[in-house]
Amino acid sequence: MSGNITVVEHPLVQHKLTLLRRKQASTAEFRKLLWEIGLFLGYEAMSDLPLGRVPIETPVSTMEAPVIYGKKLAFISVLRAGDGLLAPMLELAPSARVGQIGLSRNEITLKPEKYYFKTPGNLDQRRTIVLDPMLATGNSAAYAIDEIKKAGARDLKFVCLLAAPAGVETFTKAHPDVPVVTAAIDYSLDDHGYIVPGLGDAGDRLFGTK
Ligand code: URA
Repeated sequence: MSGNITVVEHPLVQHKLTLLRRKQASTAEFRKLLWEIGLFLGYEAMSDLPLGRVPIETPVSTMEAPVIYGKKLAFISVLRAGDGLLAPMLELAPSARVGQIGLSRNEITLKPEKYYFKTPGNLDQRRTIVLDPMLATGNSAAYAIDEIKKAGARDLKFVCLLAAPAGVETFTKAHPDVPVVTAAIDYSLDDHGYIVPGLGDAGDRLFGTK
C-alpha cells in the first residue's frame, strides 16, 4: 500500500479495538474505548512535535528541561464522529485550538460539500490534526483536507481509528504530504461504503443514535 501511514500496533490498542468493534459493546463502552484508543493515536500523531529547553529548578538542582516548543496545535474534528477523538486529543494537549468541519453529500453530484466550517486563526502556524474515526472511501476526508488547506493549514496529519485500503489509496494520492495515523487497516468496503469488518456507523455508536 502506498502512502505515509502509521498503524499503531500496540497490544493495548489492538485489544481495545477488538472490544470496541463488537456489536454487543454498549454506547458507554464504545465511547470510553474510543477515548482510550484516541490517547494512543494522539501520542503517535504528536510524537514528532519539536522540543526546546527551558531552565527549571527541581528540589535537587537546576536543569535545562525539554518542553514542546514553537508549534501551536489545532485539532479539527470532522463532524460528528470526529468529536469522539477530540476529547482524548484535548486530554493530551489541553491548550490546542479546535475547529470543526461538517460535511454532507450532494445527492446530485454525489460529491461531499461542507455545511459547517469553523477553524482557528493562523492555521499556517499550527500543526493541524484532523480527526475522523473512519477513513472509508477517502473522498470526504480528502475534501476536508482540501478545505482545511484552503484555510491556510500547511503542516497536517490525519488521525482515524479504522481505514479501508481504498480510502488510504484515495487519501494519500490526493494528499501525499499528510501522514495518516490509524489503529487498523481493514479488508474492504461494502456496497454502502461501510468498512468491513469495521464497526458499523461510528457516529451512531458514539452517540447512541439509530
Ligand atoms: N462511516 C462509518 O461510520 N462507518 C463506516 O464503516 C464507514 C464510514
